[in-house]
Amino acid sequence: MKYYITTPIYYPNSSPHIGTAYTTIAADAMARLRRMKGDDVYFLTGTDENAQKIVRIAEKAGMDPHTYVDEIVGKFRELWQLLNISNDDFIRTTEERHAKVVQNIFDRLFEQGDIYKSEYEGWYCTPCETFWTANRLAEGKCPNPDCGREVELLKEESYFFKMSKYQDKLLQYIAENPEFIQPVSRRNEMIKFIEGGLEDLCVSRTTFKWGIKVPFDPKHVVYVWLDALINYVSALGYPDGENYHKYWPADVHFIGKDIMRFHSIIWPIILMALGIPLPKKVFGHGWFLSREGGKISKSRGNVQDSFELLRRYGSDPIRYFLLREMQYGTDGTYSEDDLVERLNSDLANDLGNYVSRTLAMIVKYNEGKVPNPGSDTELEKELKDLSVRVKNSVEEKMLSCDPAAALESVWQFISRCNKYVDETAPWNLAKDPAKRERLHTVLYTFADSLRILGILCAPFMPGVPEKIKPLLGGEDFFGDWEQAEKWNIIQPGTVIRKGEPIFPRIDVAQYLAELNAAQVSQEKSQDLAPTKEEISIDDFAKVDLRVVKVLKAEKVEKTDKLLKLEVEMGSEIRTIVSGIAQHYSPEELVGKKVILVANLKPAKLRGIVSQGMILAASHDRELEVLALEKEIPSGAQVK
Ligand code: MSP
Repeated sequence: MKYYITTPIYYPNSSPHIGTAYTTIAADAMARLRRMKGDDVYFLTGTDENAQKIVRIAEKAGMDPHTYVDEIVGKFRELWQLLNISNDDFIRTTEERHAKVVQNIFDRLFEQGDIYKSEYEGWYCTPCETFWTANRLAEGKCPNPDCGREVELLKEESYFFKMSKYQDKLLQYIAENPEFIQPVSRRNEMIKFIEGGLEDLCVSRTTFKWGIKVPFDPKHVVYVWLDALINYVSALGYPDGENYHKYWPADVHFIGKDIMRFHSIIWPIILMALGIPLPKKVFGHGWFLSREGGKISKSRGNVQDSFELLRRYGSDPIRYFLLREMQYGTDGTYSEDDLVERLNSDLANDLGNYVSRTLAMIVKYNEGKVPNPGSDTELEKELKDLSVRVKNSVEEKMLSCDPAAALESVWQFISRCNKYVDETAPWNLAKDPAKRERLHTVLYTFADSLRILGILCAPFMPGVPEKIKPLLGGEDFFGDWEQAEKWNIIQPGTVIRKGEPIFPRIDVAQYLAELNAAQVSQEKSQDLAPTKEEISIDDFAKVDLRVVKVLKAEKVEKTDKLLKLEVEMGSEIRTIVSGIAQHYSPEELVGKKVILVANLKPAKLRGIVSQGMILAASHDRELEVLALEKEIPSGAQVK
């Protein structure tokens, strides 16, 4: 059977973090399991590069977007390699193979009348790369609950895609295909959204040039989401590629809940318009939240350096932790303390100890050789029956995209194995020569259970079979999933090794000390924004900086960020609107002498004309207005 699984293509605006790693690791586990089951798997990931936010961030870093994305894409590739991600392809939307498919599809939709030209007037959230109508905004900001940032007013000639035309057809499809959108809670959300009425979607931009040009009207670039979704077929060489014919439709688009709407509404409608079959399943998992509760994301500043985490803990523990912590249909919590805890209890203790002590007993009681087993008792039968149930349960859970539950099943087996050691007590059997055969059965069962454990762990932690293999005589037992329910496979006489613990315990005291030291040094060097491009002294002299005294300050109504200040600059009084309300109360500012950019073009904010800008320094989430302490009068120049 063929099996095509995809992750979202990630924005290369910053290095990959734990959140993005989760999606990729979970998809990888599903892909690995299917390969082990003998399926013909195609696993795709990649990067979504033609976004407006990429242009902005590159500009800020003083780089051209190409150089900027090349660098970050390199980090994605490197991290995926370190995490043992087994993707078959990595698509970048700046590649020619992708652009030509996007243009071909745009052309076709235009030719058949599903794309038409009009004018867009509405709002755009660049961080989310999403268009919003005024009535959807939340207090004038992006209504995405995870964003809430400023939106920009756009008024530009645009092409539109006739989403509305396909609304009923999509609803019918969702009704007839209950597996299409999962989990059920998100399916219901999507149905509600569609029933609320779909508007035609703006699918081109003219105010910047970065992106794929509309083939017949090159002053337009294709809207990044239309462009991005198409990666799932462009990577397969749509419309004629061999891989396209072989693998499409996708079996699962595995994504985070934040991008459900794009994948279960916009993408299916594009496919319907093109007359191509829809993906079999769109699965939206939850988010990793920080302990404090917010989504783990670069913009919230709560991400840890993934490379550093990998260096400290290695790929398998990180994979295990993330897969185990994300509960089906809800969010997961990420913290390094919990990671260390899981590593010590589940990996070092339950799994690692079982491996070490069973091997040690084979060494001690049978000179390091796997013995010939005698006949099974109820205990062996029970263990063997459980292995079949666990294997089936893992398959079933992974089919419904639930790696946490699948791992829980594997751990049921590991617990049972540990209990088997205590129940059989080989140290007692070894004392009694009459129980030699029984001892051999138990030791044999140990060795064969390690083989099974290697198989059961392989999709989730591909390093485990690698570690167990040399201990069990070097034979590669671990590639075939079906062997996880078969027993009596390992050959009696196989010479085993004790080796190092496969998951060494983390010394918690040392961990805490290192963490502390790392935090201190991080605080010292934290996230300095790159310096901007050089300017001459004449350039600087164009900025008229003045000392001004704050006479009055008040909150601007219906905003939580803005303060309206009345300032004195010599004999002149000016009104300034400043985005510092979350850092200063109005009372704190009155009487302060601060620095004003006095020749900044006036700008209207919330209907108030602001005649300049107050200078402030910011770091992380802190912000401090630059203020004078001595007697320099208002109006004085700052040079
Ligand atoms: N470029 C779009 C996707 C286009 S797909 C055709 C995009 N990129 S993104 O870089 O913002 O990545 C979003 C995805 O990253 C989420 O859907 C999710 O899979 C993953 N995650 C990002 N932060 C996450 C968490 N904190 N927790 C779990 N997954 C999260 O949107």
